[in-house]
Amino acid sequence: MDDNTTHFDPKDFRRALGMFATGVTIVTTQAGDGTPVGVTANSFNSVSLTPPLVLWSLAKSARSLQAFSDASHWNVHVLAEDQVAMSNLFARAGEDKFSGLQLDTGLNNTPLLHACSARFQCRTMFQYEGGDHIIFVGEVLGYDRSERPPLLYVTGNYALATPKAEPVSTEPLADIGAALYSEELLGYLLGRSHHQFMAGFRSRLNERQLSDGDFYVLSTLSVREPLSAEEIAQHVAYTAVNLDQHAPEALCERGLLQHSGAAGTSYTLSANGRDAVLHILAAAKDVEASVVDRLGEQEASLLRNLLKRLILATDPGLPKLWTATAPTSSH
Ligand SMILES: Cc1cc2nc3c(=O)[nH]c(=O)nc-3n(C[C@H](O)[C@H](O)[C@H](O)COP(=O)(O)O)c2cc1C
Repeated sequence: MDDNTTHFDPKDFRRALGMFATGVTIVTTQAGDGTPVGVTANSFNSVSLTPPLVLWSLAKSARSLQAFSDASHWNVHVLAEDQVAMSNLFARAGEDKFSGLQLDTGLNNTPLLHACSARFQCRTMFQYEGGDHIIFVGEVLGYDRSERPPLLYVTGNYALATPKAEPVSTEPLADIGAALYSEELLGYLLGRSHHQFMAGFRSRLNERQLSDGDFYVLSTLSVREPLSAEEIAQHVAYTAVNLDQHAPEALCERGLLQHSGAAGTSYTLSANGRDAVLHILAAAKDVEASVVDRLGEQEASLLRNLLKRLILATDPGLPKLWTATAPTSSH
Protein backbone atom coordinates (compact mmCIF):
# COMPACT_ATOMS: atom_id res chain seq x y z
CA MET A 1 0.00 0.00 0.00
CA ASP A 2 1.53 3.27 -1.06
CA ASP A 3 -0.73 5.66 0.86
CA ASN A 4 -3.63 5.67 3.30
CA THR A 5 -6.20 5.43 0.55
CA THR A 6 -7.12 1.98 -0.67
CA HIS A 7 -8.66 1.35 -4.04
CA PHE A 8 -10.83 -1.59 -3.15
CA ASP A 9 -14.19 -2.06 -4.72
CA PRO A 10 -16.36 -1.22 -1.65
CA LYS A 11 -18.96 -3.90 -2.40
CA ASP A 12 -16.34 -6.57 -2.87
CA PHE A 13 -14.50 -5.47 0.27
CA ARG A 14 -17.72 -5.71 2.28
CA ARG A 15 -18.35 -9.16 0.82
CA ALA A 16 -14.86 -10.28 1.91
CA LEU A 17 -15.43 -8.89 5.41
CA GLY A 18 -18.80 -10.66 5.45
CA MET A 19 -17.00 -14.02 5.28
CA PHE A 20 -16.17 -13.48 8.95
CA ALA A 21 -19.13 -14.85 10.95
CA THR A 22 -20.26 -12.82 13.94
CA GLY A 23 -23.08 -12.74 16.41
CA VAL A 24 -25.61 -9.93 16.32
CA THR A 25 -25.96 -7.42 19.14
CA ILE A 26 -28.09 -4.44 19.99
CA VAL A 27 -26.22 -1.78 21.95
CA THR A 28 -28.38 0.55 24.02
CA THR A 29 -27.89 3.64 26.09
CA GLN A 30 -29.83 6.63 27.35
CA ALA A 31 -29.52 9.97 25.55
CA GLY A 32 -28.92 13.21 27.46
CA ASP A 33 -32.65 14.04 27.28
CA GLY A 34 -33.56 10.68 28.84
CA THR A 35 -34.75 8.93 25.67
CA PRO A 36 -33.61 5.36 25.13
CA VAL A 37 -31.26 4.84 22.17
CA GLY A 38 -30.24 1.59 20.52
CA VAL A 39 -28.50 0.29 17.45
CA THR A 40 -27.88 -3.12 15.88
CA ALA A 41 -24.15 -3.88 15.73
CA ASN A 42 -22.16 -6.92 14.73
CA SER A 43 -18.83 -5.18 15.33
CA PHE A 44 -18.93 -6.32 18.95
CA ASN A 45 -15.95 -8.27 20.25
CA SER A 46 -14.32 -9.31 23.47
CA VAL A 47 -11.05 -7.56 24.26
CA SER A 48 -9.77 -8.52 27.69
CA LEU A 49 -10.72 -10.85 30.54
CA THR A 50 -8.82 -9.01 33.28
CA PRO A 51 -10.01 -6.35 33.38
CA PRO A 52 -13.16 -7.41 31.53
CA LEU A 53 -13.28 -5.29 28.38
CA VAL A 54 -15.37 -5.40 25.21
CA LEU A 55 -15.54 -3.21 22.12
CA TRP A 56 -17.82 -2.30 19.27
CA SER A 57 -17.79 0.40 16.62
CA LEU A 58 -20.44 2.83 15.45
CA ALA A 59 -20.57 4.62 12.10
CA LYS A 60 -20.00 8.36 12.41
CA SER A 61 -23.11 8.76 10.26
CA ALA A 62 -25.34 6.98 12.82
CA ARG A 63 -28.05 9.13 14.35
CA SER A 64 -27.22 7.64 17.74
CA LEU A 65 -23.55 8.74 17.58
CA GLN A 66 -24.00 11.78 19.83
CA ALA A 67 -25.86 9.77 22.47
CA PHE A 68 -23.18 7.06 22.59
CA SER A 69 -20.30 9.58 22.51
CA ASP A 70 -21.80 11.34 25.54
CA ALA A 71 -22.82 8.17 27.40
CA SER A 72 -20.96 6.95 30.45
CA HIS A 73 -22.73 3.57 30.28
CA TRP A 74 -24.14 1.30 27.59
CA ASN A 75 -25.45 -2.26 27.33
CA VAL A 76 -24.61 -4.90 24.74
CA HIS A 77 -27.36 -7.47 24.07
CA VAL A 78 -26.28 -10.65 22.28
CA LEU A 79 -29.41 -11.50 20.32
CA ALA A 80 -31.04 -14.92 20.39
CA GLU A 81 -31.91 -16.71 17.17
CA ASP A 82 -35.60 -15.71 17.40
CA GLN A 83 -34.79 -11.98 17.62
CA VAL A 84 -34.29 -11.24 13.91
CA ALA A 85 -37.25 -8.82 13.88
CA MET A 86 -35.69 -6.89 16.75
CA SER A 87 -32.33 -6.81 14.98
CA ASN A 88 -33.99 -5.37 11.86
CA LEU A 89 -35.92 -2.85 13.94
CA PHE A 90 -32.77 -1.50 15.60
CA ALA A 91 -30.94 -1.43 12.25
CA ARG A 92 -33.37 1.20 10.93
CA ALA A 93 -32.43 4.81 11.44
CA GLY A 94 -34.38 7.04 13.74
CA GLU A 95 -37.55 5.00 14.32
CA ASP A 96 -39.17 4.74 17.69
CA LYS A 97 -37.32 1.52 18.30
CA PHE A 98 -38.39 0.96 21.89
CA SER A 99 -42.15 1.41 21.65
CA GLY A 100 -43.97 -1.63 23.01
CA LEU A 101 -40.77 -3.32 24.21
CA GLN A 102 -40.44 -4.65 27.74
CA LEU A 103 -37.36 -3.14 29.38
CA ASP A 104 -35.31 -3.57 32.52
CA THR A 105 -33.37 -0.65 33.91
CA GLY A 106 -29.60 -1.00 33.72
CA LEU A 107 -26.77 1.01 35.23
CA ASN A 108 -27.25 4.77 35.01
CA ASN A 109 -30.86 4.24 33.78
CA THR A 110 -29.76 2.61 30.54
CA PRO A 111 -32.39 0.39 28.89
CA LEU A 112 -31.98 -3.40 29.03
CA LEU A 113 -33.85 -5.60 26.52
CA HIS A 114 -35.42 -8.96 27.34
CA ALA A 115 -35.00 -12.55 26.08
CA CYS A 116 -31.43 -12.25 24.73
CA SER A 117 -28.68 -14.88 24.77
CA ALA A 118 -26.46 -12.63 26.90
CA ARG A 119 -26.32 -9.04 28.14
CA PHE A 120 -23.27 -7.01 29.14
CA GLN A 121 -23.61 -3.79 31.13
CA CYS A 122 -20.63 -1.58 30.41
CA ARG A 123 -18.98 1.65 31.46
CA THR A 124 -17.24 3.60 28.70
CA MET A 125 -13.46 3.19 29.08
CA PHE A 126 -12.13 4.57 25.80
CA GLN A 127 -13.32 5.99 22.51
CA TYR A 128 -11.05 5.80 19.49
CA GLU A 129 -11.20 7.23 16.01
CA GLY A 130 -11.56 4.37 13.56
CA GLY A 131 -11.89 5.83 10.07
CA ASP A 132 -15.57 6.35 9.39
CA HIS A 133 -16.44 4.68 12.72
CA ILE A 134 -15.85 5.43 16.40
CA ILE A 135 -14.60 2.47 18.42
CA PHE A 136 -16.07 2.19 21.89
CA VAL A 137 -14.26 0.14 24.51
CA GLY A 138 -16.23 -0.63 27.64
CA GLU A 139 -15.51 -2.19 30.98
CA VAL A 140 -18.05 -4.90 31.76
CA LEU A 141 -19.58 -4.14 35.14
CA GLY A 142 -22.24 -6.85 35.01
CA TYR A 143 -23.59 -9.51 32.70
CA ASP A 144 -26.16 -12.26 32.47
CA ARG A 145 -26.76 -15.04 30.04
CA SER A 146 -29.47 -17.52 29.09
CA GLU A 147 -29.58 -20.85 27.28
CA ARG A 148 -31.25 -19.21 24.25
CA PRO A 149 -29.23 -20.11 21.13
CA PRO A 150 -27.51 -17.04 19.65
CA LEU A 151 -28.27 -15.48 16.28
CA LEU A 152 -25.35 -15.26 13.84
CA TYR A 153 -24.59 -13.00 10.88
CA VAL A 154 -22.41 -14.15 7.98
CA THR A 155 -22.15 -13.36 4.23
CA GLY A 156 -24.75 -10.63 4.71
CA ASN A 157 -27.37 -13.02 6.11
CA TYR A 158 -28.70 -14.11 9.46
CA ALA A 159 -27.61 -17.63 10.33
CA LEU A 160 -27.74 -20.17 13.10
CA ALA A 161 -24.82 -21.79 14.87
CA THR A 162 -24.49 -25.53 14.50
CA PRO A 163 -21.69 -27.58 16.03
CA LYS A 164 -19.65 -29.35 13.37
CA ALA A 165 -20.66 -33.03 13.35
CA GLU A 166 -18.00 -35.71 13.73
CA PRO A 167 -17.52 -37.74 10.53
CA VAL A 168 -19.96 -40.67 10.73
CA SER A 169 -17.64 -43.22 9.20
CA THR A 170 -13.91 -43.38 8.48
CA GLU A 171 -14.08 -46.63 6.50
CA PRO A 172 -12.84 -46.33 2.92
CA LEU A 173 -15.57 -46.89 0.34
CA ALA A 174 -15.48 -50.53 -0.71
CA ASP A 175 -17.11 -50.43 -4.10
CA ILE A 176 -19.42 -48.50 -6.36
CA GLY A 177 -22.47 -49.57 -4.31
CA ALA A 178 -20.96 -48.09 -1.16
CA ALA A 179 -20.17 -44.92 -3.09
CA LEU A 180 -23.81 -44.57 -4.16
CA TYR A 181 -25.37 -45.69 -0.89
CA SER A 182 -23.39 -44.06 1.86
CA GLU A 183 -23.96 -42.69 5.32
CA GLU A 184 -23.78 -39.23 3.79
CA LEU A 185 -26.86 -39.80 1.62
CA LEU A 186 -29.54 -37.37 2.79
CA GLY A 187 -32.25 -39.84 1.86
CA TYR A 188 -30.71 -42.45 4.16
CA LEU A 189 -30.25 -39.98 7.02
CA LEU A 190 -33.81 -38.63 6.73
CA GLY A 191 -35.40 -42.05 6.29
CA ARG A 192 -33.51 -43.64 9.14
CA SER A 193 -34.13 -40.76 11.53
CA HIS A 194 -37.86 -40.77 10.64
CA HIS A 195 -38.22 -44.51 11.24
CA GLN A 196 -36.19 -44.46 14.47
CA PHE A 197 -38.33 -41.58 15.70
CA MET A 198 -41.58 -43.39 14.82
CA ALA A 199 -40.29 -46.56 16.50
CA GLY A 200 -40.26 -44.62 19.78
CA PHE A 201 -44.08 -44.57 19.89
CA ARG A 202 -45.06 -47.38 17.53
CA SER A 203 -46.25 -49.49 20.48
CA ARG A 204 -49.02 -46.92 21.02
CA LEU A 205 -50.15 -47.32 17.41
CA ASN A 206 -50.07 -51.11 17.76
CA GLU A 207 -52.07 -51.03 21.00
CA ARG A 208 -54.88 -49.33 19.14
CA GLN A 209 -54.36 -51.32 15.96
CA LEU A 210 -53.67 -48.21 13.94
CA SER A 211 -51.53 -48.24 10.81
CA ASP A 212 -49.19 -45.36 9.96
CA GLY A 213 -51.80 -44.25 7.41
CA ASP A 214 -54.56 -44.24 10.06
CA PHE A 215 -52.33 -42.14 12.29
CA TYR A 216 -51.65 -39.61 9.50
CA VAL A 217 -55.40 -39.28 8.84
CA LEU A 218 -56.27 -38.82 12.51
CA SER A 219 -53.46 -36.33 13.17
CA THR A 220 -54.41 -34.29 10.06
CA LEU A 221 -58.00 -34.04 11.29
CA SER A 222 -56.78 -33.06 14.76
CA VAL A 223 -55.45 -29.86 13.15
CA ARG A 224 -58.07 -29.18 10.50
CA GLU A 225 -61.60 -30.50 10.14
CA PRO A 226 -63.96 -31.21 8.52
CA LEU A 227 -62.11 -32.53 5.46
CA SER A 228 -63.32 -34.60 2.54
CA ALA A 229 -61.62 -37.89 1.69
CA GLU A 230 -59.90 -36.17 -1.20
CA GLU A 231 -58.61 -33.35 0.99
CA ILE A 232 -57.33 -35.82 3.56
CA ALA A 233 -55.51 -37.69 0.80
CA GLN A 234 -53.94 -34.42 -0.40
CA HIS A 235 -52.70 -33.61 3.09
CA VAL A 236 -51.07 -36.97 3.67
CA ALA A 237 -49.75 -37.35 0.12
CA TYR A 238 -46.20 -36.55 1.28
CA THR A 239 -46.07 -39.70 3.41
CA ALA A 240 -46.24 -41.99 0.34
CA VAL A 241 -48.60 -44.15 2.37
CA ASN A 242 -51.04 -45.67 -0.05
CA LEU A 243 -54.25 -44.13 1.23
CA ASP A 244 -57.26 -45.06 -0.85
CA GLN A 245 -60.48 -43.04 -0.86
CA HIS A 246 -62.07 -45.62 1.45
CA ALA A 247 -59.56 -45.20 4.30
CA PRO A 248 -61.61 -42.50 6.10
CA GLU A 249 -64.73 -44.61 5.62
CA ALA A 250 -62.99 -47.55 7.29
CA LEU A 251 -62.05 -45.32 10.24
CA CYS A 252 -65.70 -44.24 10.40
CA GLU A 253 -66.77 -47.87 10.67
CA ARG A 254 -64.32 -48.30 13.56
CA GLY A 255 -65.92 -45.31 15.33
CA LEU A 256 -62.82 -43.10 15.08
CA LEU A 257 -64.26 -40.64 12.53
CA GLN A 258 -67.75 -39.39 11.86
CA HIS A 259 -69.49 -37.96 8.83
CA SER A 260 -70.02 -34.25 8.64
CA GLY A 261 -71.51 -31.64 6.33
CA ALA A 262 -74.92 -31.53 4.65
CA ALA A 263 -74.03 -34.23 2.14
CA GLY A 264 -72.13 -36.21 4.76
CA THR A 265 -69.07 -36.36 2.51
CA SER A 266 -66.67 -34.74 4.96
CA TYR A 267 -65.16 -36.22 8.08
CA THR A 268 -64.41 -35.05 11.61
CA LEU A 269 -62.84 -36.89 14.54
CA SER A 270 -65.27 -38.72 16.81
CA ALA A 271 -64.71 -38.51 20.58
CA ASN A 272 -62.92 -41.88 20.38
CA GLY A 273 -60.82 -40.74 17.43
CA ARG A 274 -59.81 -37.57 19.26
CA ASP A 275 -58.90 -39.52 22.35
CA ALA A 276 -56.78 -41.96 20.28
CA VAL A 277 -54.88 -39.29 18.39
CA LEU A 278 -54.21 -37.18 21.49
CA HIS A 279 -52.89 -40.26 23.26
CA ILE A 280 -50.50 -41.04 20.38
CA LEU A 281 -49.43 -37.43 19.85
CA ALA A 282 -48.62 -37.21 23.56
CA ALA A 283 -46.35 -40.25 23.14
CA ALA A 284 -44.75 -38.64 20.07
CA LYS A 285 -44.14 -35.50 22.16
CA ASP A 286 -42.39 -37.61 24.79
CA VAL A 287 -40.10 -39.08 22.12
CA GLU A 288 -39.43 -35.56 20.87
CA ALA A 289 -38.63 -34.32 24.38
CA SER A 290 -36.07 -37.06 24.87
CA VAL A 291 -34.51 -36.35 21.45
CA VAL A 292 -34.31 -32.62 22.28
CA ASP A 293 -32.80 -33.54 25.61
CA ARG A 294 -30.05 -35.55 23.92
CA LEU A 295 -29.38 -33.08 21.09
CA GLY A 296 -29.76 -29.93 23.18
CA GLU A 297 -32.26 -27.13 22.48
CA GLN A 298 -29.84 -25.36 20.16
CA GLU A 299 -29.25 -28.29 17.81
CA ALA A 300 -32.92 -29.28 17.91
CA SER A 301 -33.86 -25.80 16.81
CA LEU A 302 -31.25 -25.89 14.04
CA LEU A 303 -32.56 -29.24 12.91
CA ARG A 304 -36.12 -27.88 12.74
CA ASN A 305 -34.84 -24.98 10.68
CA LEU A 306 -32.94 -27.22 8.25
CA LEU A 307 -35.83 -29.65 7.89
CA LYS A 308 -38.25 -26.79 7.18
CA ARG A 309 -35.86 -25.53 4.50
CA LEU A 310 -35.59 -29.00 3.01
CA ILE A 311 -39.38 -29.43 3.02
CA LEU A 312 -39.79 -26.10 1.20
CA ALA A 313 -37.06 -27.01 -1.28
CA THR A 314 -38.73 -30.32 -2.14
CA ASP A 315 -42.42 -29.38 -1.71
CA PRO A 316 -44.40 -30.51 -4.76
CA GLY A 317 -47.07 -27.93 -3.82
CA LEU A 318 -49.04 -29.72 -1.12
CA PRO A 319 -51.81 -27.91 0.74
CA LYS A 320 -50.62 -26.26 3.92
CA LEU A 321 -52.01 -27.79 7.08
CA TRP A 322 -51.08 -25.07 9.56
CA THR A 323 -52.36 -22.03 7.66
CA ALA A 324 -55.82 -20.47 7.68
CA THR A 325 -56.39 -21.10 3.97
CA ALA A 326 -58.47 -24.15 3.16
CA PRO A 327 -56.74 -26.71 0.96
CA THR A 328 -57.56 -26.55 -2.71
CA SER A 329 -59.98 -29.12 -4.00
CA SER A 330 -60.81 -29.96 -7.59
CA HIS A 331 -64.52 -29.91 -6.72
C1 LIG B 1 -26.56 -7.32 11.33
C2 LIG B 1 -26.24 -5.84 11.37
C3 LIG B 1 -25.07 -5.41 11.96
C4 LIG B 1 -24.74 -4.05 12.02
N1 LIG B 1 -23.60 -3.67 12.64
C5 LIG B 1 -23.29 -2.35 12.73
C6 LIG B 1 -22.13 -1.94 13.44
O1 LIG B 1 -21.39 -2.73 13.99
N2 LIG B 1 -21.86 -0.60 13.49
C7 LIG B 1 -22.69 0.32 12.91
O2 LIG B 1 -22.40 1.51 12.99
N3 LIG B 1 -23.80 -0.05 12.24
C8 LIG B 1 -24.14 -1.37 12.15
N4 LIG B 1 -25.28 -1.76 11.51
C9 LIG B 1 -26.14 -0.74 10.93
C10 LIG B 1 -26.92 0.02 11.99
O3 LIG B 1 -27.68 -0.86 12.79
C11 LIG B 1 -27.87 1.03 11.30
O4 LIG B 1 -27.09 1.93 10.57
C12 LIG B 1 -28.79 1.79 12.23
O5 LIG B 1 -29.72 2.45 11.46
C13 LIG B 1 -28.12 2.80 13.07
O6 LIG B 1 -29.13 3.38 13.87
P1 LIG B 1 -29.17 4.94 14.17
O7 LIG B 1 -28.96 5.65 12.85
O8 LIG B 1 -30.52 5.16 14.78
O9 LIG B 1 -28.05 5.24 15.10
C14 LIG B 1 -25.62 -3.10 11.45
C15 LIG B 1 -26.81 -3.54 10.86
C16 LIG B 1 -27.12 -4.90 10.81
C17 LIG B 1 -28.41 -5.35 10.18
